[in-house]
Amino acid sequence: MEPTTNLTDPMNLTETLQTLQATVIGQVEAADAVAELDAIETAAVGRESPIGEARRGLGKMPAEERRDAGRMINEVAKAIEAAVAERREALAGQARAAAIAAEAIDVTVDYLSIPSGRLHVIQQVVDEVCDIFVGLGYHIAEGPEAELAWYNFDALNTPPDHPGRLESDTMYLDYGKPEDELLLRAHTSPVQARYMEEHEPPVFIVAPGKAYRNDTIDATHLPVFHQIEGLAVDEAITFSDLKGTLAEFARQFFGTDTRVRLRPHYFPFTEPSAELDVSCFNCDGGSSSCRVCKGVGWLEMVGCGMVDPHVFEAVGYDPESVTGFAFGMGVERLAMDRHGIDSIRHFVDNDVRFLNQFPG
Ligand code: PHE
Repeated sequence: MEPTTNLTDPMNLTETLQTLQATVIGQVEAADAVAELDAIETAAVGRESPIGEARRGLGKMPAEERRDAGRMINEVAKAIEAAVAERREALAGQARAAAIAAEAIDVTVDYLSIPSGRLHVIQQVVDEVCDIFVGLGYHIAEGPEAELAWYNFDALNTPPDHPGRLESDTMYLDYGKPEDELLLRAHTSPVQARYMEEHEPPVFIVAPGKAYRNDTIDATHLPVFHQIEGLAVDEAITFSDLKGTLAEFARQFFGTDTRVRLRPHYFPFTEPSAELDVSCFNCDGGSSSCRVCKGVGWLEMVGCGMVDPHVFEAVGYDPESVTGFAFGMGVERLAMDRHGIDSIRHFVDNDVRFLNQFPG
């Protein structure tokens, strides 16, 4: 800052110092770097500054004016230094805040979010059905999916010329005699034979698992699907026990008002055989436009019957001393009816928008 006046003149000095103070404080407040602030300070109060010059001029002043002039110079110098210090502090604060913001790590960010999985709706239905039968005193049994033709057919009283044995229906893994011919089981019924071979009566089991058929995929067929097999064998099991047991299952699974009916049917391994229908849980038979039963009022649910004596013979049981019933239900079918699902393909599409609708 160039001195423009004679600073040994008190009038000039006052005016000059006031102008200086106002100008420099304006510069200080506008400074946005520490280096800039240092330069302003040096130029305003340093040795070669107007203040420095004014201080040096004090000696030439008359003694009676020197005191006041000196005090004024010091006050202006102090005011400038205070403004500089304040600005320096503000700039340091800004720099700190910027550094913190730049280096910040947000520890609350969930950077590795692993959504928890859930059971597939088919597994949920399997668990629910098995729980109902366990509640009725049944045990869970399992058998192999790659099965011998003997257990899939012969032990279940299915003759060698039965159409289900054709390759158009059943998927074979290895050809041979029934005892070593290997196939993908076409139903869970072979578990009946395997279990009875290994256990003495009484038998009360449910056997969930996959079954395989050489079917073309459409809205109601998949080549791999799930069944739950049931088998009850004891000294005096009757057809009423079969109906009562399945009615109780239907009430627990579909609702307490559910009714059941049996229609005659045929299976090689049960005699008599039947198909069990349950009253439609959606319309209870009351609506011709029901989307669940399509107006029929009943849902086909379970293949069943009294265990054929030939099956008991094949597994080494005495058909004269035991009787029993067996049933088999399709899990996909149960799930589709229960949830109003229109195509069996949804179960294997693995679309999470579908799967997430069944939180379990
Ligand atoms: N296994 C038969 C099927 O897959 C169902 C069934 C099981 C029928 C047990 C009667 C007894 O269609």
